[in-house]
Amino acid sequence: MDFLNRYILGDCEEVLRRFPDNSIDLIFTSPPYADQRQKAYGGVSPDKYVDWFLPKVEQFWRVLKPTGTFILNIKERVVDGERHTYVIDLILRMRERGWLWTEEFMWHKKNSYPGKWPNRFRDNWERLIQFNKQKKFKMNQEAVMVPVGDWAKDRLASLSETDKARDESRVGSGFGKNVSNWVGRDLVYPTNVLHMATECSNRNHSATFPVTLPDWFIKLFTDPGDVVLDPFVGSGTTALAAIQLGRHFVGIDINKEYIELARKRTASAQIRLPHIAEGRAAYSTSRPKNKGRLKNAR
Ligand SMILES: C[S@@+](CC[C@H](N)C(=O)[O-])C[C@H]1O[C@@H](n2cnc3c(N)ncnc32)[C@H](O)[C@@H]1O
Repeated sequence: MDFLNRYILGDCEEVLRRFPDNSIDLIFTSPPYADQRQKAYGGVSPDKYVDWFLPKVEQFWRVLKPTGTFILNIKERVVDGERHTYVIDLILRMRERGWLWTEEFMWHKKNSYPGKWPNRFRDNWERLIQFNKQKKFKMNQEAVMVPVGDWAKDRLASLSETDKARDESRVGSGFGKNVSNWVGRDLVYPTNVLHMATECSNRNHSATFPVTLPDWFIKLFTDPGDVVLDPFVGSGTTALAAIQLGRHFVGIDINKEYIELARKRTASAQIRLPHIAEGRAAYSTSRPKNKGRLKNAR
């Protein structure tokens, strides 16, 4: 396992060939979107995107544990006035190869500014597509519970008979949507829409997502000590979230500058987390005089 807590320079498809089978708990990544920012990190033509991505996904399948999850942050771009279908095509081709398209989350970008386009409005959300190898996978739902919110005050104060009846017809969760279940609770499960601000601070990388995004999925799909892989790690946002949560990380990027950027960005976080090597989520704000610096961090 000497790949743990390292950034590795190279094409993720080639690098991952050297990894053992079933060694990763969560793959969380945002690949280059078709043709976008070609100069910055080599976008791929929308028509060739699926063929470019599938051999990489083959390696993702091999290294992911059967109980693991793959979260893909992607959005189809507009080509000739309409949305291209490469994301839909990719999902269908992945399903043919055995992946389950378990769920889809929407990242609503809370802080975007207004704009005007002739035939559409500002694009204010992105997809986070969840794939699994099997129906039973690790999921810590309690780790991402949210405050019940103000709606509960009015809604739960006067419950009708219908509210008290179980409604299994649509959700099939076993808990149903019996509204009275939530009386007296402070925390509830979140929805699949995540309201998070985009990354505003300049990280010298043009496509950084906010650390809150990988943070949420790492809490949900891994335990402390598990291994999180970002095969297109860029400025190291996924690695930073993993370190802060006491998980191991592996970050791959084809661009040397980004690897250096990621290393610098996460170095201080590693110093602050003395026990990550043992997989403990002991977050400390005091600096322990380098004592616990990650031994095998590169
Ligand atoms: C959308 S950016 C990722 C940004 C990252 N999520 C962050 O927060 O900084 C995609 C990254 O993929 C890298 N990349 C492109 N092709 C790659 C490949 N074949 N293997 C590994 N990395 C690649 C690019 O250099 C770029 O940094």
